Amino acid sequence: MLSKNIEAALNQQIRIEAESSQVYLAMAVWAEVKGLEGIASFMYDQSDEERVHMLKLVKFVNERGGHAHISELNAPNVTFNSFKEMFEKLLEHEIYVSNSINELVHTSLQEKDYATHNFLQWYVAEQIEEEAMARTILDKVNMIGDDKGGLYLFDRDIQQLTVESAADVPDA
Ligand code: FEO
Repeated sequence: MLSKNIEAALNQQIRIEAESSQVYLAMAVWAEVKGLEGIASFMYDQSDEERVHMLKLVKFVNERGGHAHISELNAPNVTFNSFKEMFEKLLEHEIYVSNSINELVHTSLQEKDYATHNFLQWYVAEQIEEEAMARTILDKVNMIGDDKGGLYLFDRDIQQLTVESAADVPDA
């Protein structure tokens, strides 16, 4: 059974994951209207992943005797000055999510809620992967700079890049 405090903290995380899905959906749309299909496809996939993160939390809260709260969401940024800025925001956002997960882990230990602590380990591992991937992408984007040809190739290769980056991350 979840304490009220843990239930509220998990519900806050449900909101953050749902907002993350919207953040990446907005990035996907922006990339798509700019004609960069590879980046758009990557961002649509990211958006779907965040929805899965959200749903796992929803199921856990309900299974543990709580009531998952489906709340209103903050609207995401829908335009960006550049692709570099968009990927910087992606990394910033993932760091924010990691901090939030860390806080949750801390709270679960404080309350000796080992079931929740165990459940959260999946998110800890996932955040290591997502941050590493965002950093790899940003390194590439920084190398490309304003080079249009580079951006074209990057758009073509981004899916492959993310598969490689995920494979580089040691199992947590
Ligand atoms: Fe669910 Fe990308 O954090």
